[in-house]
Amino acid sequence: MAYIFPSFLFFFFLLLLLLLLSPLMAASAPVQMSDAAALLRLKSSFGNATALSKWSSSSPSPPCDPNTPWPGLICFHGIVTGLRLQGLGLTGTIDAEALAHFPALRTASFAQNSLSGALPAALTGLNALKSLYLSNNAFSGRLPESFFSSMSHLKKLFLDNNSFSGLIPSSIINATRLLELRLDHNKFDGSLPPTLPPSIKVFNISYNNLTGPVPESLAALFNASSFLANPNLCGPPLDSACPSPLHPPDNISHIKRKDTMLILAFLVLIIIMLSAALIFICHRRSDPVFDTVGVGIAGETNEAATGAVFTEQKEPLPLHQPQEPGSTHKSSGSSRAGGSGSVSVGSVSSGAIAGVTELVMVNEDRGVFGLPDLMKASAEVLGNGGLGSAYKAVMATGLSVAVKRVRDMNRVGKEEFGTELQRHGRLRHPNVLTPLAYHYRKEEKLIVSEYVPKGSLLYVLHGDRGPNHMALTWPTRLKIARGIARGTSYLHAELRSLDCPHGNLKSGNVLLGADFEPLLVDYGFLGLINTSQAPHAMFAFKSPESLLHRHVSPKSDVYCLGVVLLELLTGKFPSQYLSNTKGGTDVVQWANSAIAERREGELLDPNITCTEHAPSGAEMVRLLRVGSACTDPNPEKRPEMREVAELVEEIAAAAISGESTNSGDGGGDSDGSAGDNPGVFDG
Ligand SMILES: *[C@@H]1O[C@H](CO)[C@@H](O)[C@H](O)[C@H]1NC(C)=O
Ligand SMILES: *[C@@H]1O[C@H](CO)[C@@H](O)[C@H](O)[C@H]1NC(C)=O
Repeated sequence: MAYIFPSFLFFFFLLLLLLLLSPLMAASAPVQMSDAAALLRLKSSFGNATALSKWSSSSPSPPCDPNTPWPGLICFHGIVTGLRLQGLGLTGTIDAEALAHFPALRTASFAQNSLSGALPAALTGLNALKSLYLSNNAFSGRLPESFFSSMSHLKKLFLDNNSFSGLIPSSIINATRLLELRLDHNKFDGSLPPTLPPSIKVFNISYNNLTGPVPESLAALFNASSFLANPNLCGPPLDSACPSPLHPPDNISHIKRKDTMLILAFLVLIIIMLSAALIFICHRRSDPVFDTVGVGIAGETNEAATGAVFTEQKEPLPLHQPQEPGSTHKSSGSSRAGGSGSVSVGSVSSGAIAGVTELVMVNEDRGVFGLPDLMKASAEVLGNGGLGSAYKAVMATGLSVAVKRVRDMNRVGKEEFGTELQRHGRLRHPNVLTPLAYHYRKEEKLIVSEYVPKGSLLYVLHGDRGPNHMALTWPTRLKIARGIARGTSYLHAELRSLDCPHGNLKSGNVLLGADFEPLLVDYGFLGLINTSQAPHAMFAFKSPESLLHRHVSPKSDVYCLGVVLLELLTGKFPSQYLSNTKGGTDVVQWANSAIAERREGELLDPNITCTEHAPSGAEMVRLLRVGSACTDPNPEKRPEMREVAELVEEIAAAAISGESTNSGDGGGDSDGSAGDNPGVFDG
């Protein structure tokens, strides 16, 4: 008996071992799938694959048989390096995992079939792929934002004649070997990328839905036939001049007959409305406040083009309350001449000159200007964002403005849009950039704000690493953190009727003033942006609760603020800003594990720790904890915006008083604004 037991045990363990291993073997099987099996799997994802009848498990020869390879295969020393499956009447989709089995693939053609579905994700694992032809199929969906980064060997990409949609991924710039890019006849939208890799020789985006101007660098390389039939694309090399922001359709000869009729109808309508408004104002306004600013420039054009009716009138509606004289925001010398009684040609007259358009001032701190001023301004493209493209325009008065051309803002009609923008125009806070004017048409909206030369925090942190980056010492970063918290907290008080008052807080929407005082932009759009577009365009929708339930709240702003704080501390580009998980640093995760493991110091941007203004560990850890608390996945557990602002304020105050003896940047210049608590400037 004693002898039988151990041998029984031995067999028992052997059995156990086999049982345990078998699932592992099964799981690893696909990785070791034979070429034949992978091809059969690929075939099985196709419909109508009769043309591939020779792809069969009963085939007498292996796929890469030197004499008779399976049809459609290109082999090199027994390895599949090419798939030529064009024009075979295939339907269905491309099985991603089957494709992933061929990492040596250099060329793949599925063109001229009826394949559908999204671009197979496994493509991005095919590092050797140089040519991909998917022309003339029924593929759809967006290309992943990082698509081109992961396929850096790509030379030819043919996606034409499909139904791909969304933006052209900005990672295109990383496709440094790309020679030919055919995207024509799809549904791509948004603006063109500002530049393409210099390697590109053939580029075609005809027959899509792109908007905005053709960037100069592209216009210089490709002629109009690359950009045909994108109704909202404009500027050279196309014939259609950009209607705005800087050139409303003032030249009637450029406009088709039908439009002329429409414009005339609008003009009549506007005249009627204006007369009504004029009467209304004259009756209501006993002591009108007129501006003199802008008369010189706008005057002549308007007189020439319009009747006297318009030049009498300053603004379409008496929406402006007299400003508080004590407002402390920077004034650019365009002081208001209150009550002088002089007449200004304002927005309405410029609207009339344009026929159907007008520029409505919502904030006259920088003077009054109209479309003619913008039309005469020299302009340059600033870039494209989730909400649209932006331009810089320098007007004859010397005022530089940023004109944002926003897309997807048709959630509300003209009136409500105006009311909302007027509300934005009444905001006054040292850390909030108040818009100056807007322009509304159904198909196009412009929002004009003052131009801030230093650019965004995103750019200064991760961009060219110039002198502004060097200036991001610890006290400066604290000042920025404090300003952002103050500004957001102010918006939470002023725009509390919105589910998520800022809605798009990220470092790209924090501009840096001359003294590194941050200025929030692109806030308060939740009520304006189309519901379908909001999740793509607004960062608050990237908060964990929104990803789960598509629901945003003031706590979503708290989350966004947390990400910015962690970004400031670590100097890392947060992966949260990307629409996929490739690239960037998951700053939230990183901070959490660092706190848990008590190694917070490792996180800090070496650019802070290596300067003379290095932070004391305690402050840094405190700010890190605030950032981490703000990014708690459970919105209930995050602090309120007001509390965050107070915490950051305390940390900054402690740090700045500690620094004041040895730092020139001790917050002296921002002390003036320190007293401007949220709520002081009630609109
Ligand atoms: C199926 O494939 C054949 C060629 O193999 C093609 O002629 C036919 O049109 C295809 N049918 C469909 C429905 O695509
Ligand atoms: C771009 O594609 C369109 C339509 O497919 C075609 O008419 C045009 O000639 C093409 N242009 C270039 C430069 O390939």
